[in-house]
Amino acid sequence: MLRDVDPQIADLIQKELARQRDTLELIASENFTSGAVLEAMGSVLTNKYAEGYPGKRYYGGCHVVDEVEELARQRAKQLFSAEYANVQPHAGAQANMAAYHAVIEPGDTVLGMKLSEGGHLTHGSPVNFSGQDYHFVAYGLDPKTERIDYDEVRQLALAHHPKLIVAGASAYPRIIDFPRLRAIADEAGARLMVDMAHIAGLVAADAHPTPVGYADLVTSTTHKTLRGPRGGFVLSTEELGPKVDKAVFPGLQGGPLEHIIAAKAVAFLEAMQPAFQSYQHQIVRNAAALAEELLSRGYRLVSGGTDNHLLLLSFVDRDDLTGKDAEQALEQAGITVNKNTVPGERRSPFVTSGVRIGTAAATTRGMTEVEMQEIGGCIDAAIRSRQDPQRLREIRAAVGELCRRFPLYPEYAD
Ligand SMILES: Cc1ncc(COP(=O)(O)O)c(C=O)c1O
Repeated sequence: MLRDVDPQIADLIQKELARQRDTLELIASENFTSGAVLEAMGSVLTNKYAEGYPGKRYYGGCHVVDEVEELARQRAKQLFSAEYANVQPHAGAQANMAAYHAVIEPGDTVLGMKLSEGGHLTHGSPVNFSGQDYHFVAYGLDPKTERIDYDEVRQLALAHHPKLIVAGASAYPRIIDFPRLRAIADEAGARLMVDMAHIAGLVAADAHPTPVGYADLVTSTTHKTLRGPRGGFVLSTEELGPKVDKAVFPGLQGGPLEHIIAAKAVAFLEAMQPAFQSYQHQIVRNAAALAEELLSRGYRLVSGGTDNHLLLLSFVDRDDLTGKDAEQALEQAGITVNKNTVPGERRSPFVTSGVRIGTAAATTRGMTEVEMQEIGGCIDAAIRSRQDPQRLREIRAAVGELCRRFPLYPEYAD
């Protein structure tokens, strides 16, 4: 139908499918959803207005979407053993905004992780609503270990009396110690919020300790390691549930995206299956194997390695190589990553001294440790040959061949 109505968009979707199939996706925040998730997203549920919550809507005709949303809420709670779930946030940023609205007021002091050392824009960046509406104080990494400096978190918490401590990151390759953060929050009289957007899939499969039970509020996206549709959700204690609900609607959003909520429900169900557990543990093994390969080739990794789904290559010690150079060379070789600031950064955010690499998407294609060694070799070769277009074309061909060995969406036509 789409091709008949709008051949231009149909062509572009086909082109994007070809790009996803033919390139190696190593962006740590991306993944490939199942066909079932895509089907739910593209369903007639998009037609329904349903402001409010199941059983308490401002529109008629909601009895079916009520069941959809109730299923999504129940599955989110079951998957993460949470007391309360709100599955309406349109994205991770909205989930974080809702969590803030539920427990703090404009101008309140909040402790969050430095953006330049792994935190997210919504954890207090001055160019984001979070940094503009609240008084964020930033904690960072221990310069020696390049792991979260929990002593610094404690000192800052005791000195600044934040109402909220925010943990969770976009670029942090190590396990986060939630019990320790809870103890700090208790000592400082603060609430604890954990943004588990990156590690939600790992948490669901016990491949990373859970923040649930330690944090008052847990926010997340559904589209990274969790492998669902693009979206967000908030988990909370029973006590905070009504406050979160009020913050999302009517506080921040209008009608919920029930087609996306249905796709979230599908993703939560998929995440309860044994195959998902194996998948998540394979992501972690793959990241470790890739880290080992790159270390053996002389690269420096932030914190010296990884415990989760991502690693950060650091070029802070090198004058001849930037994150931007590496990202561009890898793109020419058919490998998609993103440049990233790293500890000790001395370049601008548009250039940076690092590259973030994640294994969730490649693992969805079925790649294992053997392919990670091959990929490590391709990454190294592309970075070394960044000024040699002919060699980059050869690496591109090898990457294309690797991708063809692990077909993506084989059920869809070319
Ligand atoms: C830790 C973290 N929180 C929140 C977000 C925001 O999610 P979204 O892009 O869906 O708004 C991201 C996105 O990268 C993230 O890494």
